[in-house]
Amino acid sequence: MGTPSDIKLIDENGLRVDGRTPEQLRPIKIQTDVLNRADGSAYIEWGGNKIMVAVYGPREAYPRHTQDIERAIVKARYNMAAFSVDERKKPGPDRRSVEISKVISEALQAAILVEQFPRAQIDVFIEVLQADAGTRIAGLTAASVALAAAGVPMRDLVVGCTAGKVDGQIVLDLCREEDNFGQADLPMAILARSGKVVLIQMDGDLTTEEFDRATSMILNATKRINQIQREALQGKYIAEQGGE
Ligand code: CDP
Repeated sequence: MGTPSDIKLIDENGLRVDGRTPEQLRPIKIQTDVLNRADGSAYIEWGGNKIMVAVYGPREAYPRHTQDIERAIVKARYNMAAFSVDERKKPGPDRRSVEISKVISEALQAAILVEQFPRAQIDVFIEVLQADAGTRIAGLTAASVALAAAGVPMRDLVVGCTAGKVDGQIVLDLCREEDNFGQADLPMAILARSGKVVLIQMDGDLTTEEFDRATSMILNATKRINQIQREALQGKYIAEQGGE
């Protein structure tokens, strides 16, 4: 997270590099049932991010020694396509994708009624086709829609957003330039209704006041994003009825 002082990320009118106001989200679109072979799937476009999610299961966990006799295990795999970033991403898992897979798995596990499926495994494949900052949150937000579309019993949808510090100001939903050259990046996800925090990470430094402002901006935004998730799921059911 470099901070070259010659890069101006907020102009004299208070607008950001992509013309947004500090609390404005990038455009978000979510579509369900985009893959035929998956039990559930979702595709999200969030700003320049394009991410596909496929859900399989619950199905018997394999190999057997990985089974938990009390609950299903949730295995999310976050992967960036080689062509998803400016410089070709070397295929295969790296430290970053292993970390992101872990935090996403834990966040989803908090939402899924895992105790209903002992010895089972739920696989969630998150494929980033185009990356533009905020992919872990966009992937997680789409994954919870894909799980719901698969009919996996859940307490709640997981919804998230990032906020960060750019040119000394707290702003919502960082784009790539802001992520690269800003001073802090705070991805966070909650259970939509209860507000329980299921993912929070921070890169860079914020004061306590800045942290409070960032988290309250995120919480505000999750209401709008959750609405988009629910509309995507309603769209699914309308389409299904229409097809009968
Ligand atoms: O994507 P997210 O913000 O959750 O994670 P990050 O590690 O903060 O990465 C921020 C952004 O850096 C990604 O969304 C990509 O746009 C970019 N990136 C990249 O260009 N090449 C990589 N190998 C990893 C990330």
